[in-house]
Amino acid sequence: MTTNQPAPDGVMRLINGYWNTGIIAAAATHRLFTHLEEGAGTAAEIASRAQVSERGAQALLDGLVSIDLVTLDGGRYRNTPAASAFLVEGKPASLAGFAKLKLSHVASVTDLPEVVRVGGPLTGGETEVADNPHWEGIVPAIAAVSVPAADLGVTALNIAEAGEITILDVGGGSGIYSSTWLKANPAARAVQLDWEPINQIARRLVAEQGVGDRFTTVNGDFHTTAFGTGEYDIAVYSHIAHQESPESNIEVFTRLRESLKPGGALVIADYVVDDDRGAPAFPLLFAGEMLLKSKEGGTWRRTDYHEWLTKAGFEDITFHAAPPATVVIAR
Ligand SMILES: C[S@@+](CC[C@H](N)C(=O)[O-])C[C@H]1O[C@@H](n2cnc3c(N)ncnc32)[C@H](O)[C@@H]1O
Repeated sequence: MTTNQPAPDGVMRLINGYWNTGIIAAAATHRLFTHLEEGAGTAAEIASRAQVSERGAQALLDGLVSIDLVTLDGGRYRNTPAASAFLVEGKPASLAGFAKLKLSHVASVTDLPEVVRVGGPLTGGETEVADNPHWEGIVPAIAAVSVPAADLGVTALNIAEAGEITILDVGGGSGIYSSTWLKANPAARAVQLDWEPINQIARRLVAEQGVGDRFTTVNGDFHTTAFGTGEYDIAVYSHIAHQESPESNIEVFTRLRESLKPGGALVIADYVVDDDRGAPAFPLLFAGEMLLKSKEGGTWRRTDYHEWLTKAGFEDITFHAAPPATVVIAR
């Protein structure tokens, strides 16, 4: 007998979505994806290499098959191509650290019903607090999140052939754009503006990439620190616009334009949603995170960026996909 009644399976899995975070983070903690990559293929082999219980290893493997990160073939488990690319440790784009970070955020979601009722964070909001120590945990873990956008910039801006360029990265965090672009162009120099403890982390990470001699940092709040006039070929503002209000974004974009040499480019990377707010999926989900963590931020639409950049004086504005982010290049 056939029925048009939908089965509850899909909704059940969505309701239990926090188990995705738990299973991926536990697997990353025990380097399960790395062990699979190196040839372990059963719960017993994983248990032995990871020094965990076989019962625990089996539960993780079951969960990972359920969410399509691991396949089972002839009794042996393997990473899917996505797990192999993004969850094995040591690869530049590895999100293993990000997965562990997100497990520590799970409890905060219990505030969401009240946050939705009042329309913002229940306490001060994490992103507005000056010099907030929360960035120190987040910044190294999210470096990998910006790898696709930094790589896209190398091509879109022809960084390798650009000669002696200077780059300003506002809220540069881990310094991932500086590392990537200074490696691509041995004549380039980069300056990062961020809070002092974050700049310390960035200097270490950029030096580890062998380009620390062309990387300098400025400590301070980007709302009140001058960017300079006509100094830079490229300015970067990545994963910051979502924590700021529209007025702040217009003000910062205006000062960034002033900081650029004639013909210079501003590169914005962020989770940008379509103008009708119908897609893409991940940026739409991220709207909840900004509601929880910022007083005035949001997942802004393409039209918002276009309007703010035009008000700031930019004339040539293009959008480039770097899923799940979008890179906006404005001149
Ligand atoms: C989400 S992280 C983005 C890091 C980096 N741009 C990236 O895309 O990977 C936000 C960064 O902005 C910095 N930040 C936030 N508010 C700031 C402010 N008012 N002044 C200076 N830096 C700030 C944080 O310290 C953090 O490094």
